[in-house]
Amino acid sequence: DEGVVRRDRFSGGPARSFLSSLEADRRIFEADLEVDRAHVVMLAEQGIVEDAVAGSVLTALDAIEVEGHAGLPEGEDVHEAIETAVIERIGEEGGKMHTARSRNDEVAACIRYRLREDVLEAIETTLALRESLVEVAADHQETIMPGYTHLQPAQPITVAHWALSYEAAVRRDTARLLEAYDRINESPLGGAAFAGTTFDIDRERTAELLGFEGVVENSMDASSSRDFLLETVQALSTHATTLSGLAEDVVIFANRGFVDLSDDYSSTSSIMPQKKNPDTLELVRAVAGDAAGSAQGLTTTLKGLPRAYNRDLQRATTHAWETVDAVTEASEVAAGAVATADWNAETLAAEAGEGFSTATGVADLLAANGLPFRTAHEMVAVAAENGGDYDALEAAAEDVLGEPLESLVDPEDVRNALDPAESVASRDSQGGPAPGAVADQLEGARSAVADD
Ligand code: ARG
Repeated sequence: DEGVVRRDRFSGGPARSFLSSLEADRRIFEADLEVDRAHVVMLAEQGIVEDAVAGSVLTALDAIEVEGHAGLPEGEDVHEAIETAVIERIGEEGGKMHTARSRNDEVAACIRYRLREDVLEAIETTLALRESLVEVAADHQETIMPGYTHLQPAQPITVAHWALSYEAAVRRDTARLLEAYDRINESPLGGAAFAGTTFDIDRERTAELLGFEGVVENSMDASSSRDFLLETVQALSTHATTLSGLAEDVVIFANRGFVDLSDDYSSTSSIMPQKKNPDTLELVRAVAGDAAGSAQGLTTTLKGLPRAYNRDLQRATTHAWETVDAVTEASEVAAGAVATADWNAETLAAEAGEGFSTATGVADLLAANGLPFRTAHEMVAVAAENGGDYDALEAAAEDVLGEPLESLVDPEDVRNALDPAESVASRDSQGGPAPGAVADQLEGARSAVADD
């Protein structure tokens, strides 16, 4: 067998393990068997190989599947090893399996076939996270908490408003992954090395057998493009970035006693007996770094690659597996941590007014009573420096405007504006934190999760 001789000649030497992707290809072992099956069925249907040969190839593939990846002979990659195993089982007729294709279109088909499944799982975890966030929101529509900018107390909000802000972001992450999925889900099989084939193949048929939504038309594009990998890793990296912000918030909230993480999502210290640390969320936060690194590594590998197939592509693939695994796991953990955490409504309420967080509401009130907003801002800023309470506002009115506060605004309204719960209730603009506005957002979130 010429092929086997040539293969022996080229697969030895000190670079053998450097060349080989056989270990990494464990991930696409089942995918390769499916791709082989679809291809050989199509070849038989087209009269390119005899039915009997196709039948024995299929039988051999089943046996190889039972033995598993570990049972494969040596090879430069899983495609070569499976072909060798088929030939070992049924003789040189097995070599007909590789008619009208190349490892180039084969590997692209395997990656897409497997990645499709992995991305669906990632999408499902985004949905689980969104469900957790919706649950939290539903339970805490009136749970007042401090909201921050620059990590400083800024304006009171509710836990529901916070949770729905992340549901909205994760919703876009889901959408990006769904879009990436559609572009993964096209068959490159039949592109051959890159320049098509002389055989009368049926690309639509193999696409159909493998459950792809259509074919990647141009054979050179089919065998060599990896922008579907890049898009997927980037979408995952974006999701990981969303997760990192969520994780950071929860770490801070846990630190301040706003939220108690379940023991399942916490860790202890080996030396400090009193500790309960939010380690799982810190790891979630760190996955964003790995994912961004993979997106960068993949981009750099693909940048400037000429058409058509170049072996660099072998090292492109692993970025996708690492990223999809890490981000899916992080998303799952984030969903679990959020779903099982207890929010301390009392602590949150006590802290909601910290740092004169109702100042904006007071300035808004003065502005609504006719004072230019900038003047109101100045006056309330002076009050903030002097304690930010009713007395401070009275003094500031005299100092800055030379008028008693009661002449500008009803004192009762001022006292309401200073109350965090009233402050939240008054911010009922579209998308705002007031319970009514949040109820609309909650309804939107629920139906978006159901739609996705
Ligand atoms: N193992 C390779 C990969 O993962 C596929 C083999 C194509 N090899 C080649 N020399 N054309 O990309």
